[in-house]
Amino acid sequence: MIRFVIIGHRAHTTADFKLDDIAGGAGRLDVLVRCVNSAFFLSHNIRKDAELYLVLLGGEAAPKTVRISGRELRYLNPDERSTASLIRNALLKKVGDTEVRASPGIYVSRMSFAGLMEELSKTSRFVYLREDGKDVREFGFPENPCFILGDDKDLTEEEEAVMSSYDFDMIKLGPLSLHANHCMILVLNEMDRRA
Ligand SMILES: C[S@@+](CC[C@H](N)C(=O)[O-])C[C@H]1O[C@@H](n2cnc3c(N)ncnc32)[C@H](O)[C@@H]1O
Repeated sequence: MIRFVIIGHRAHTTADFKLDDIAGGAGRLDVLVRCVNSAFFLSHNIRKDAELYLVLLGGEAAPKTVRISGRELRYLNPDERSTASLIRNALLKKVGDTEVRASPGIYVSRMSFAGLMEELSKTSRFVYLREDGKDVREFGFPENPCFILGDDKDLTEEEEAVMSSYDFDMIKLGPLSLHANHCMILVLNEMDRRA
């Protein structure tokens, strides 16, 4: 299983945004929506071995985590608007202490970044994507990697402090600072080439 955790530092946790304003009113949800596309879409297929966690930290209901499982995923289309709609539907769900299924392959919970890291540490090896990490071309991918990355902002000091409770590798994908979803495509391609 290949996992990604992306932190949406301002992404809304309530469904109070318009689908034609996901870059503004939804707190840069557009960045996360592009990450959904990059995690799952192949030309004529879906990556079933991928799982994506969107940690949403914007608004009064924060934090919330939307989990998207490639194995179960249905109704995902390549356009940003319909993906934003699937996420918005998940945010409409009443969430208590346990994860709730919003649609096939899409779940929502009140999990924080710290709680999520604790949960994922049981099954995954963390790989932090950072511009000053070790070059990916000299890196041996672990089994069950979980890649951690920022949205349009890097991880904060507090989030890095959470990470420091765990063992992790830190890799860079190239010499330039890239968009989060482009990082995902590059890392998946690098893994595909070595499979
Ligand atoms: C758009 S970047 C964040 C802002 C960026 N650091 C800047 O100063 O403009 C989104 C995330 O992608 C990852 N990232 C971007 N470029 C990278 C690279 N060359 N290697 C590894 N990760 C990268 C990091 O996790 C980063 O937090």
